Amino acid sequence: MQRDDTMIKSVRYLLLAMLVLLPATVLAGPSGQALSFTCAGCHGTDGSSAGPSMPAIAGMDPEVFIDAMQDYKMDLRNATIMNRIAKGYSDEQIKDMAWFFASQRLYLKPQVFNAALAARGAELHKKHCEKCHENGGRASDAGTLAGQWMPYLEYTMDDFLNGKREWPRKMKRKVDAAIADEGQESIPALINYYGSQH
Ligand code: HEC
Ligand code: HEC
Repeated sequence: MQRDDTMIKSVRYLLLAMLVLLPATVLAGPSGQALSFTCAGCHGTDGSSAGPSMPAIAGMDPEVFIDAMQDYKMDLRNATIMNRIAKGYSDEQIKDMAWFFASQRLYLKPQVFNAALAARGAELHKKHCEKCHENGGRASDAGTLAGQWMPYLEYTMDDFLNGKREWPRKMKRKVDAAIADEGQESIPALINYYGSQH
């Protein structure tokens, strides 16, 4: 079971690595890129948003992207604006955009963070989150945490904790364990750790 999972993961990464080497236009077709122009005002050109409550979506795992858009479309995920936007796209168009954004390089912008909190966050991350959010939370099939905009992460954690966004499988237990470790400071510590990476 474990070996199969690892193999599937390796194949995924291989495919993603190959994606990066190909020109985006060839892969996504003109439509993925053309559709993404509408998103640039908020998510930045090619998905590296200028923040702070607009998440960066460049380099986002295509499956996580599709899940996110479908959840917005069906009002399953709390949103200020994305639920309305997602309803305007067909499944095929969402797929095209997913491949386009997955093939874009993520340019992280330095953020102001609290170094003491970030150091505690690093420990909490290693203990409770690294298993799924590998490499300090870099873009993967569990989304992008490293370098993601801190205000966006705050809203998102708030949504999880207040039942406005469905927990990914087995994540709640780990977040609860992190909170048990450091109390109220746990979530800010984790967010400062992710924001410290660029
Ligand atoms: C008016 C600003 C705006 C526009 C335009 C916009 N977005 Fe968003 N997007 C947001 C905000 C804000 C969020 C956070 C959720 C919310 O509050 O709606 C978000 C969240 C997302 C997420 C989830 C990211 C994550 O890390 O889980 C995806 C995927 C996304 N947008 C894709 C798109 C795509 C594709 C387009 C273009 C078709 C688009 N957005 C256009 C503002 C925008
Ligand atoms: C068992 C695996 C697992 C563990 C452990 C886990 N997560 Fe996650 N997490 C996920 C998955 C999968 C997603 C992708 C979300 C989705 O598809 O809705 C995610 C998404 C997130 C997001 C939302 C990202 C976005 O772009 O909106 C945040 C924030 C997050 N996790 C924080 C944490 C923190 C902090 C910890 C540790 C305390 C943690 N996670 C532990 C699996 C996990």
